[in-house]
Amino acid sequence: MESKNSAEKLPKIPPLHVVMASPEIAPFAKTGGLGDVLASLPIALEQLGLRVSLVMPAYRSVLQGGFSIEDTGIDFTVPISNSREAGTLLKTKVGRDITLYLIRADQYYDRENFYGTHGEDYLDNAERFTFFARSILGVLKYDPPAILHAHDWQSALAIAFLKAQPHLYLELSSVKTIFTVHNLGYQGLFNYLDWHLLNLDERFFTPQYLEFYGKINFLKGGLVFADRITTVSPSYADEIKTAEQGFGLDGVFRERAKDLVGILNGADYEIWNPETDPFICKTYGLQNLWGKKSCKSELQRTFGLHDVPDIPLIGMVSRLTSQKGFDLLERAMDAMLSRGTQLVLLGTGDKHYEEIFAEMPERYPGKVGVKIDFDDSLAHKIIASSDLLLMPSRYEPSGLTQLYALRYGTIPIVRATGGLRDTVREFDPKTGEGDGFIFNTYDVPEFLQALDRALELLRQKEKWAKLMRNAMTADFSWGRSARSYADLYQQLAGSST
Ligand code: ADP
Ligand code: GLC
Repeated sequence: MESKNSAEKLPKIPPLHVVMASPEIAPFAKTGGLGDVLASLPIALEQLGLRVSLVMPAYRSVLQGGFSIEDTGIDFTVPISNSREAGTLLKTKVGRDITLYLIRADQYYDRENFYGTHGEDYLDNAERFTFFARSILGVLKYDPPAILHAHDWQSALAIAFLKAQPHLYLELSSVKTIFTVHNLGYQGLFNYLDWHLLNLDERFFTPQYLEFYGKINFLKGGLVFADRITTVSPSYADEIKTAEQGFGLDGVFRERAKDLVGILNGADYEIWNPETDPFICKTYGLQNLWGKKSCKSELQRTFGLHDVPDIPLIGMVSRLTSQKGFDLLERAMDAMLSRGTQLVLLGTGDKHYEEIFAEMPERYPGKVGVKIDFDDSLAHKIIASSDLLLMPSRYEPSGLTQLYALRYGTIPIVRATGGLRDTVREFDPKTGEGDGFIFNTYDVPEFLQALDRALELLRQKEKWAKLMRNAMTADFSWGRSARSYADLYQQLAGSST
């Protein structure tokens, strides 16, 4: 048995070191929830005592965003096809002591957008993210971590290269890998003509590995090679194993079922808090809800809507893609507005939806406000000011917007899918439990029934107040989810933090 003294002399176990690689980290780069997750999860993990580093591309938004960025003095090259491409390693700090490494390669990342323009992907995306993946492994070599945790298809090849070409990465032989799928609708599919860029043996261009119906599938590289796979809600982890929601990869998820886990995203209540939100015209909280009324009135005026407090205001902040249910919304517009509601929508995305919804304010004057833009400050205003938040998603891996809405007492109407199913509970007027309204089938009549339940309750002031209280006190802070990731890392690394 060890004496107290000898225990004191034991060397301190260094904290588990995790490197997360992602194409988005807010506020440096964000097109949706992925950026939010990568801004908050690392900090929550750091608070649990882990050592976290981050890697992402140094896009133009990073270089010109007014951030304080240092040059590490490290220039490097990585193999792309049969030549070598050059990059520079920059860094900055986030959280208490998290190093964010930025891969600078202006030939790839110094562009107006992250992935493409006007809904069209950049033609060299296969090369841009092959370069990113190789560079991630280059960064790891300087300070090998216990875990490489890669997010989405843009980072997936880092895991594939590490496992398929171990002879190139001998210093990293003990690194364990986790791959997180945030959205199966984006897989990084490329023509076989790009295969040479990867420098992988031809045997990996087979259905067992990266081939997907004759194409290269970057995401699949992460799925088949990672030690563990996670996705962003328990329900989505189940759904992706089915042919309906598996986007052609359900077989892979079924095969890897024992290594797959769904860990729900959290909300960052430092950023999304109606009591302190610097973007909204009046802050408010459970004890003083009148601020929410001022916000609503201001938003109605901003969008030229009839400024009447009792008109139910429905808000949406969303990427304009078919995932998010915009075809259903389009079909439901007449019926929804004829119930005396107003709609404010902020979003960008598919040209098709941008055009359709940009015309709505003219079609429904005084009732509909639309802004086709990416505007963080307006997103906060809409979420704070609306009575209801609408998310009629076809599928939703996790969803963060409904979590933010709950905290602002903005009641979500959602379709029961993925993370929406896991986070919103139908309000029961009899028991007073629940915090939103849910419909199951992806169709207009079921959606309208949910809307009618919401509108009926909005007329019953006391019950609505209870509903708002339930919503505003629901707790989706990052702590619990971060603990689940930390447990997974520890299991995998076989060490303690
Ligand atoms: P997804 O990641 O599928 O887009 P989430 O609900 O997880 O959906 O996260 C969306 C995030 O992106 C939220 O922070 C939301 O406020 C933000 N967002 C989406 N569209 C816009 C926009 N047009 N302007 C500002 N923020 C937006
Ligand atoms: C994806 C999903 C969304 C999720 C986000 C962050 O883009 O569509 O549901 O919340 O990633 O994980």
